[in-house]
Amino acid sequence: MSKVVDLRSDTVTKPTQKMREAMMNAVVGDDCYGEDPTVNALEKLAAEKVGKEAAMYVPTGTMGNTAAIMAHVRSGDIVIMEPDCHIYYYEMGNVSSLAGALPVLAKSKGGCLDPDLVEEMLRSTRHRPRTALICTENTHNRAGGRVIPIENMKAIYELSREFNVPIHLDGARIFNAAIALNVDAQEIAKYADSVMFCLSKGLSAPVGSLLAGTADFIQEARRARTRLGGAMRQAGVIAAAGLIALRDMVSRLPEDHENAKVLAEGLAKIEGIDIDLQKVETNMVMVNTRPLGMGAEEIARELSKRGVKVSIYGLHTIRLVTNKDVDRDGIRLAIEAFEDLVASIP
Ligand SMILES: Cc1ncc(COP(=O)(O)O)c(C=O)c1O
Repeated sequence: MSKVVDLRSDTVTKPTQKMREAMMNAVVGDDCYGEDPTVNALEKLAAEKVGKEAAMYVPTGTMGNTAAIMAHVRSGDIVIMEPDCHIYYYEMGNVSSLAGALPVLAKSKGGCLDPDLVEEMLRSTRHRPRTALICTENTHNRAGGRVIPIENMKAIYELSREFNVPIHLDGARIFNAAIALNVDAQEIAKYADSVMFCLSKGLSAPVGSLLAGTADFIQEARRARTRLGGAMRQAGVIAAAGLIALRDMVSRLPEDHENAKVLAEGLAKIEGIDIDLQKVETNMVMVNTRPLGMGAEEIARELSKRGVKVSIYGLHTIRLVTNKDVDRDGIRLAIEAFEDLVASIP
């Protein structure tokens, strides 16, 4: 079978051999009793990586975000977020259905919350429900892996201190953001009270995310995790791969960013392909299919016939995500598939 280049997401990455061996040999215990040494080691390392007191292992990023919101808010509270954030757009309404909170949407640009808008919302709460949380996301998925600059995070953080409202950061790809900003992940996480990040995306673990914050917050989040059915037992079997993800795989993420640049530049040279190269900041490339006179679905189907898988991100937008399992050769094949497709358009 000819090679398939899967650029749908960095979640498609397969665990490494070292991860598989670590999983087989993991020392485990019952994590609900706090007795799984591998989970404990992962939670400790995760908290250190983002400069927080404590961390909790969860099966998915969605559960990490949901447990965080449940731990921060009471039923009927307002959570400020922007309409394209993963929590609002993809997480099945958990913020209202499971946490009982009311998402109030602040328009954003490139995933950045507008501090003026947020301030207006924070100020206008006298006859309204209590505002209990602000959610941010870095890197921003629907914005195409865009990085939220430090100044924006800082501006929102300062407001949050003034109004005494905590911030939860969906940092599913916080290490990609840190690399692009050329800072440590702690430097990003310090502008949030709680942060969730994923091991199962660019870091290639088969499963798992972490939620980090103060020790008191994490204790409350553990109750929320149990309510969600996410308290696991000998979870060290999967946490063992997570430890390798955190220790070994962060340092290879720049390779994905470089590949995204090579891919974007190669595609931008093809007539009719519309890419804003300025917006390629991490491992994602967004392509506007409109100038080709074809919808995203049709383009995705045609590329798939040529061995390249991409995600549909709108009627006329496709997303390509570079990842560990696509090397420079794969990037070249993807560019060639686009060239072939464009050449076939009458
Ligand atoms: C920004 C962001 N947050 C959260 C998640 C949820 O992670 P999971 O799929 O592990 O639930 C994703 C998944 O793609 C994501 O991109």
